[in-house]
Amino acid sequence: MSQSPHLVPGKTAIVAKGLVKRFKTGRTYIEVLKSVDFDALHGDVTMVMGPSGSGKSTLVACLSGLLRPDEGRVNAMDQDLWSLPSGRIDKFRLDNCGFIFQGFNLFPALTALQQVTTVLKYQGYDVAEARRMAMTSLDEVGLSHRVNQRPSELSGGEKQRVAIARALAKQPRLLFADEPTSALDGENGQIVTGLLQRAAKEHGAAVVCVTHDHRMEAFADRVIHIEDGRILDDRRVTSPPAPAAAGRPLIGA
Ligand SMILES: Nc1ncnc2c1ncn2[C@@H]1O[C@H](COP(=O)(O)OP(=O)(O)O)[C@@H](O)[C@H]1O
Ligand SMILES: [Mg+2]
Repeated sequence: MSQSPHLVPGKTAIVAKGLVKRFKTGRTYIEVLKSVDFDALHGDVTMVMGPSGSGKSTLVACLSGLLRPDEGRVNAMDQDLWSLPSGRIDKFRLDNCGFIFQGFNLFPALTALQQVTTVLKYQGYDVAEARRMAMTSLDEVGLSHRVNQRPSELSGGEKQRVAIARALAKQPRLLFADEPTSALDGENGQIVTGLLQRAAKEHGAAVVCVTHDHRMEAFADRVIHIEDGRILDDRRVTSPPAPAAAGRPLIGA
């Protein structure tokens, strides 16, 4: 992979200003995001903590091109995301974003290897290249011995590692994780969180992880608290990422 000027650690990956999102319930609207400002840097794990119902999933959806905000702007990878036509927003997600969800979202009929290659083929890689990239990615999450297993034959921790391999294989500049550890025990939760950290530290991705699991705070570079659709505080835990690893490829080389 050629060096990408987008992947400089410390560079701003995403900036949102004044995000408002309302949902209609019956005859009234509830405001779920109340003018949220947000930004995330390459090389950082940015943890968004908040109780259930505080607007975390809605925020991730607005930041990643899944859900149009009612007000405000998102600038992601130097593009004014919500001003793009919808086809370009889909392409933006395909090209730039990796997603990891609480429920793993794996296809029951596919092996671990196929879960990862399917996404890569969809992105335009040929069969051999997709297989090579998928094997590298599954190896990185420690699953090279489980590539032919289907989800029913994998533990919860292994399933989430397949989902991470799938998200990372396409070398995303932005990695969104929504409650990635909440279905896992402490040990598997730590493994998963360590992999998110590696995506940021070794590969320069901007990792945005939302959770109500306070154990994850220890792995964050930055902790942002959200409650009732508002950011309450935003605290940097580590020093800002140094651009030493600039341009390193995400997976393999
Ligand atoms: N599609 C929707 N329609 C109506 N209300 C919604 C919808 N999605 C989320 N909400 C409401 O918005 C609030 C925030 O939801 P969410 O962003 O999922 O919170 P969190 O991820 O922090 O648990 C909740 O009160 C939820 O019920
Ligand atoms: Mg949620």
